[in-house]
Amino acid sequence: MSLLRRLEMERARRSEARPGKPASCDPPPSGGRPTTRQPAPSPQVSPSGDDPPVDPFVTWKLDLHRELVRQAFAGDAADKDLDPLVRRVVEEAQLPLSRYERDRMMEELLAEARGYGPIDALLRDPDVSEIMVNGPNQVYVERRGRLQKTPVRFLDDAHVMRVIDKMVAPLGRRIDEASPMVDARLPDGSRVNAIIPPLAVHGPTLTIRKFARDPFQVEDLIRLGTLSEPMAAFLRACVAGRMNIVVSGGTGSGKSTTLNVLSSFIPDGKRVITIEDAAELQLRQEHVVTLETRPPNAEGKGAVTIRDLVRNSLRMRPDRIVVGEVRGGEALDMLQAMNTGHDGSLTTAHANSPRDCLRRLEVMVLMAGMDLPLRAIREQIASAVDVIVQQARLRDGTRRVVRITEVLGMEGDSVVVQDLFEFVETGRDAEGRVTGVHRPTGVVPAFVQRLLDQGIPVEHGWFQPDGARW
Ligand SMILES: Nc1ncnc2c1ncn2[C@@H]1O[C@H](COP(=O)(O)OP(=O)(O)O)[C@@H](O)[C@H]1O
Ligand SMILES: [Mg+2]
Repeated sequence: MSLLRRLEMERARRSEARPGKPASCDPPPSGGRPTTRQPAPSPQVSPSGDDPPVDPFVTWKLDLHRELVRQAFAGDAADKDLDPLVRRVVEEAQLPLSRYERDRMMEELLAEARGYGPIDALLRDPDVSEIMVNGPNQVYVERRGRLQKTPVRFLDDAHVMRVIDKMVAPLGRRIDEASPMVDARLPDGSRVNAIIPPLAVHGPTLTIRKFARDPFQVEDLIRLGTLSEPMAAFLRACVAGRMNIVVSGGTGSGKSTTLNVLSSFIPDGKRVITIEDAAELQLRQEHVVTLETRPPNAEGKGAVTIRDLVRNSLRMRPDRIVVGEVRGGEALDMLQAMNTGHDGSLTTAHANSPRDCLRRLEVMVLMAGMDLPLRAIREQIASAVDVIVQQARLRDGTRRVVRITEVLGMEGDSVVVQDLFEFVETGRDAEGRVTGVHRPTGVVPAFVQRLLDQGIPVEHGWFQPDGARW
């Protein structure tokens, strides 16, 4: 049945039931709270988050949206049908709106219908970096590092499911009882994870990490206090001098962002191969080959892992290999590559300290299943990794490089490291932000001569705690 036909029938049914305006589109009584079944829903975000003001426009929009969803999503609505449908739904409601307001209403409804429903506006909001939907009635965002609850609501579980379907279907993925978890990427590069009941107990749950349209550059990280100027200058020299660097940190600590900045230090004219689960890195160099893994298909076949891609990349004449994150056996291939002429490689790993990072690397190498003795693994790690950049998300939401550590080599059975820079917390300011300073430890890295030999300028002032910084 065509959409318009359904609409006609619906109209006929409603006009029988109640002549005049469509039942579900009544405006709320003037000045009072709306009499709809949802408590004061508002698809717009108030800065405070928790208790959104009741704006009749917003309430009406939600009603109209509900109406629209009921009609349009019941079956086979194509995008081209939506325009007249939205127009009709708005006109029939006979709301006391000015022409401007009516146009805006239609525009917003269309955007929601064509886009990703109630969270469409959040996806377009450049201040929002992450969106978390915990079932239909709870939507959180991260704005400038802070988690906030929004007044955005979905109609019900099925509405969230439709939005999830809309996100994953174009990629040939589906979400249902048989595959209740999916990862997907939106056309703009944003990463989506969805998990549905019964695994997610309180309703379909959606986590979106938005793609930074304008990714942080090194100047931004310095301005944000993520690292100091001397630290940035030092890391630039390390990348130029082909040091192998691992950025270590927890989830959301800013590893990928820092990796992107480190990659920007790779000199032009090098052939860079990037390997990621979902392409996030945005390199500005001209000669970049971007590789992305592939999950298995519905029959569990055809997966291409980070490890497969790392191995393949070695046959692609890379000057530099950048791996988004090492999590398993690929660590072995990556370390071997670093040790056999592909130095200057960069990656990230999930760990809470540089020492923890070394331990994790050991475990990852064991996951490769090669049955290597522990000492051999440590030697491999110690000779491959030159620098660990430890990143953290502090209690106030800021991301900091909290340590830059040099890996010196083996002594006896253990890997020896020394800290070059650290972040020292001094307390909190009036707004609850963590205060502190980045400072060098006074140790000059052992590989400085290797940098100088390559003609890379190194300032001793970078490493002096009280010395002039430049
Ligand atoms: N140095 C930083 N300062 C402020 N926000 C940051 C910084 N680095 C990353 N972010 C933000 O934090 C979120 C997570 O960053 P990301 O680099 O993806 O972390 P990770 O790779 O460790 O999970 C993103 O929304 C990003 O915009
Ligand atoms: Mg990451």
